[in-house]
Amino acid sequence: AEGDAEKGKKVYNKCKACHDIGEGAKNKVGPALTGIVGQEIASVEGFSYSDAFMAKKGEGLVWTEENLTTYLEKPKDMIPGTKMSFAGLKKEDERADVIAYIKSF
Ligand code: HEM
Repeated sequence: AEGDAEKGKKVYNKCKACHDIGEGAKNKVGPALTGIVGQEIASVEGFSYSDAFMAKKGEGLVWTEENLTTYLEKPKDMIPGTKMSFAGLKKEDERADVIAYIKSF
């Protein structure tokens, strides 16, 4: 189902300690997420990614909505060795909503 960006803004509170988003967003603990939907993994300039992320980049992984949905459910299941310290979003609607929010930038 399509996500609700308005609800996703609230879900994003769980991300914003580590991820800046929007115009002029800067890398923090995690990379800036402006324009991430549809972008190749590990492509944000100036961010130092884990080896696990760099290996996925070598495989050509793209952050489609489908891949983001899988990743955000349990990041370490999809990419073992990632340095993103976040358990994940168990609820499917929360994942869809936060992706809709991210897509709005
Ligand atoms: C990577 C989303 C929460 C730290 C990423 C990437 C996405 C993402 C899409 C891939 C970026 C890329 O390929 O350039 C989210 C969302 C979150 C969230 C939507 C909330 C639901 C967090 C939190 C932290 C964090 C809370 C810090 C405690 C990181 C780090 C990376 C990353 C360090 C790079 C991973 C690596 O190089 O292994 N995140 N994130 N994220 N995130 Fe998050």
